Amino acid sequence: MNGLCRSRARLIAIALTLFLSSFDVTAQNQQAQTLYNRALAATCANCHGTDAKGIENAGMPLINQLTEKNMLTQLIAFKTGARAGTIMPQLMKGYTDEQLQTIASVLGQK
Ligand code: HEC
Repeated sequence: MNGLCRSRARLIAIALTLFLSSFDVTAQNQQAQTLYNRALAATCANCHGTDAKGIENAGMPLINQLTEKNMLTQLIAFKTGARAGTIMPQLMKGYTDEQLQTIASVLGQK
């Protein structure tokens, strides 16, 4: 192998490494995003149960039957004051609309 050939081979190796490692980064970003989404939704678990699977007649509204769309509508209504409540209007003010969308997409029915 002459010098030119060797440096070309090295370039190809570097390009290939960069190309392959970009897949790792994408996978890690997706995992981080999924974790973030689930962590946001987990902030509801204290009251509404893990994955919104609450206990019937336990004094807390069951939210696991709501569709994603309906849940988001309720959350925004609590946030804006369009829907009255005790704790929910206070809590929902702490989230951005985008975060509420994420939460509804994790917990709501498709
Ligand atoms: C500290 C307890 C508590 C937490 C935490 C909590 N909620 Fe609630 N949630 C309530 C209560 C109590 C109500 C009844 C409305 C009210 O009084 O505010 C309610 C009502 C709701 C409703 C309306 C249900 C219906 O039948 O229309 C939805 C939807 C809801 N919560 C979703 C959520 C989501 C999503 C989260 C997390 C971002 C969350 N809640 C966090 C206590 C809580």
